[in-house]
Amino acid sequence: VLKRKKTATPGAGTNEARTKRSCSRRDGSEQRWCFNSTEVQNMRQHILKFYNPETNLTLTQSSVRIGQRLTYEIQLSKKVTATKDLLKLLPEESPLKDRHFNTCAIVGNSGILLNSSCGQEIDSMDFVIRCNLPQIEGYEKDVGSKANLTTMNPSVIPHDFGKDYRRLSRRLKQVGDQILYVPGLTSPSGEMHVRIITQIVLQHKLAAKITFPPAGMNTLMKSIWSNAGFETLRPSTGAHMYTLAATICDQIHMYGFYPFSEDTRGRALGYHYYDTKEMISNRTHNMPEEFRAFQQLHMRGALVLHTEPCQ
Ligand code: CTP
Repeated sequence: VLKRKKTATPGAGTNEARTKRSCSRRDGSEQRWCFNSTEVQNMRQHILKFYNPETNLTLTQSSVRIGQRLTYEIQLSKKVTATKDLLKLLPEESPLKDRHFNTCAIVGNSGILLNSSCGQEIDSMDFVIRCNLPQIEGYEKDVGSKANLTTMNPSVIPHDFGKDYRRLSRRLKQVGDQILYVPGLTSPSGEMHVRIITQIVLQHKLAAKITFPPAGMNTLMKSIWSNAGFETLRPSTGAHMYTLAATICDQIHMYGFYPFSEDTRGRALGYHYYDTKEMISNRTHNMPEEFRAFQQLHMRGALVLHTEPCQ
């Protein structure tokens, strides 16, 4: 059982930690914390040394040709052939090219969101990112319903949908015309699932803007975090999304990032807000270390890590 370490900086990661530095909103009302634009810029500049949001978000029609053998990041010896169908789905250019947002929400999937009443606040952000095609229906009060970019690891299919492709199709239809981010070149184990996603999108003529990041993103993300002083193993989807957001968003609000089995009041938490999976110690990622990184960035005013109910 993962309990939050008692040694963590007192109050860090909670909104109380920022009450001392309150600022006004544009409409004049009081806000309980403020962003430090120098810290926001510092983090953006650090990330941009490694990550190019245009070329690293997605392969494009001009960067891949039919029949090209694409390498996976894990198991370099295994390759996958770029098919006509894959090319049909690739965008001509990054859908985030030249885009910039004032406020962004990145929504992780931790059980901390349950009964948080954060839905309205999340939906009020200019750009909302969600991870791994999560269930939203029935949880709108806590997690909102707006989404502009949704990620989907190919492994989401066996983990969350099994062979229930109808339910998967329904969930993919709910994505509408937002960006669907599919990291299909991490491991060859996802090849069949990428094919399933491709088929569903083409068969149902779904409007989602598909993005397939090139291989190598995990290594690149790991460098970003280790050069900032954090040993993250393979950075989680949420950490990838913060990295992307830091290049295009001025004010980043993170919700649902809490890899611990109890909240600050001792309430037991599940791993996800939408199912009964117990809090596990994830061996692929080091989420407690990522949490520590987000806490530090929160304390410096580079982002807001929301770990308390919103109302
Ligand atoms: N997360 C968290 N605490 C949890 C669960 C998730 O901080 N208890 C964050 C992680 O950054 C994670 C993201 O929310 O990447 C999305 O959650 P989930 O879909 O459950 O991610 P996993 O499948 O566990 O991991 P990943 O997609 O990163 O491989």
